[in-house]
Amino acid sequence: MCGICGVVGLRHASPIVFDGLRRLEYRGYDSAGIATLVDGKIDRRRAAGKLDNLGALLETSPLPGTTGIGHTRWATHGAPTTCNAHPHGTERVAIVHNGIIENFEALRRELEAAGQVFQTETDSETIAQLVDYHLAQGLAPKDAALKALQRLEGAYAIAMIFAEHEGLMIGACHSAPLAVGYGDNEMFLGSDSLALAPLTRRISYMEDGDCVVLTPVGVEFMTFDGTPVRRAEQTTALAAGAIGKDGYRHYMEKELHEHPLVIGQTLQRMIDPANRKVVLPDMPFDLATVPRAVITACGSAFYAGMVGRYWLESIARLPVDIDVASELRYRDPPLAHGSLGLLISQSGETADTLAALRTLRQNAVHILSVLNVEHSTMARESALVLGTVAGPEISVASTKAFTAQLTVLACLTIAIARARGTLDPLGEEELVAALLDLPSRAADVFAQGDAIRRMARVVAEARDVLYLGRGSMFPVALEGALKLKEISYIHAEAYAAGEMKHGPISLIDRTVPIVASAPFTPLFDKTLSNLQEAKARGGRLLVFTDTKGAERVSAIAEEMVVLPHVHDFAAPILQTIPVQMLAYEVAVMKGTDVDQPRNLAKSVTVE
Ligand code: F6R
Repeated sequence: MCGICGVVGLRHASPIVFDGLRRLEYRGYDSAGIATLVDGKIDRRRAAGKLDNLGALLETSPLPGTTGIGHTRWATHGAPTTCNAHPHGTERVAIVHNGIIENFEALRRELEAAGQVFQTETDSETIAQLVDYHLAQGLAPKDAALKALQRLEGAYAIAMIFAEHEGLMIGACHSAPLAVGYGDNEMFLGSDSLALAPLTRRISYMEDGDCVVLTPVGVEFMTFDGTPVRRAEQTTALAAGAIGKDGYRHYMEKELHEHPLVIGQTLQRMIDPANRKVVLPDMPFDLATVPRAVITACGSAFYAGMVGRYWLESIARLPVDIDVASELRYRDPPLAHGSLGLLISQSGETADTLAALRTLRQNAVHILSVLNVEHSTMARESALVLGTVAGPEISVASTKAFTAQLTVLACLTIAIARARGTLDPLGEEELVAALLDLPSRAADVFAQGDAIRRMARVVAEARDVLYLGRGSMFPVALEGALKLKEISYIHAEAYAAGEMKHGPISLIDRTVPIVASAPFTPLFDKTLSNLQEAKARGGRLLVFTDTKGAERVSAIAEEMVVLPHVHDFAAPILQTIPVQMLAYEVAVMKGTDVDQPRNLAKSVTVE
């Protein structure tokens, strides 16, 4: 949510920063801007709307200078106008900010009383005005920045440059990510390693409460009271090539096609194929004795958690509570001491999930996080991280990270079931074999492209769509409905198929297509009965099934997508792929902005 990029060096800064913003645009795309030092003075270009608007402005009005910072915004305080676009600043300082300054109103009143003149409605400008105030009192940039940082409350990552101080950039962060990149005679700041991937592979991840002072040849880390700290330099494995579209029309299409690879890579980390056993890293707690699990996450990651609940309850016989993180964090539920807290997040930065993690930790719950971004805040605050090896996910709508989350949860279920004695070695072999079969079965899904596009033509005409599924297919239906809403702007609701007759059945007519996930699992007959009830009332049925279910579904379905039949355990992972593909095809037909749908941003770092 909001992307930051900055450089101090010898090269022309604004093209480098602009390229970095291009790679960060998935974090926010309401407006964008860059500031550099030109003959010691701060100059900036800002534009409302997509980054292309800023690009066009830079073409007609280039920005020279070798010290620069840039920002791509997802608006929180203040409309997405050019005036509210970052960088914010005064004649002395320019800043870019990701996060929210919670005490900005009090600070603003205090600063205005002291004579500072604000130009925008944003919380972020308070940072610039506060630093400016201290600069005006005669403090050097580093001291002014530290003084200001000591007053800020909330979550933030910040980059600053200072008039008359060529080759100086200061960064700081608290509960929001910021990475330092090391170049040859140049240094970089970026919201994530992705922004910096083509520039350098040498990176230090900043920690909460860190400030960093950068020059082209130097880096100095310190806490906000100025105490020096050391932050290890790491080599990122991210290649610049990982962030192209590779000939696909959209990142989402590319990422959908990565499902087989990502499931395979994730399994490789967690399964010993020779012995057909799950092998997890050493646990800092005993899986055999955890009394219950509490699963929490947001959005798609929450739906992955819902599938995890079905597995943990039925296979590991472990009692599970589950709630969206934005509710769990304020519910104050009684938590059994020593429970397992299972947090699921692609970004590892989602504000509500992070807050829920902290709530659970304070209640002596063991924190195990399922994360895609390894160097995230949640990773640092978890007792154990199980990585979803999905690689960077650029499309705002999550796809491959979801199936990778399911893959990890499936392996974890097997490990917990083994530890609790509810799964014998033969049972484990059977489930592991089902998972190992998935990458190639997932590759088969793409042969269904034409059938999915036929379904998409029906859905694209609708204003409302009903998604149905039972058991572990219910979260798959929820995921399908969310994806459709998110990228095609068609209203969709998902129901547990058995709930349909308790209300939503009254919606059914020819204009409300019903999308059902109905592979041949033990609940197939039950789902089929619900579909027949819908059909009897004139419902148009679009059904995702498998080779075993197809014969019986074909009698009632208007359109059908037939996947290979897989073990019940693996079915939700496989059945997710075509449901996401359907949303993608509908969005393409409707001509929406697939990768950057309106009002959304990847990684929601505000509450
Ligand atoms: C849906 C989607 C969101 C995220 C949610 C959680 O396509 O992408 O619902 O799943 O914002 O994000 P993470 O997983 O980063 O915590």
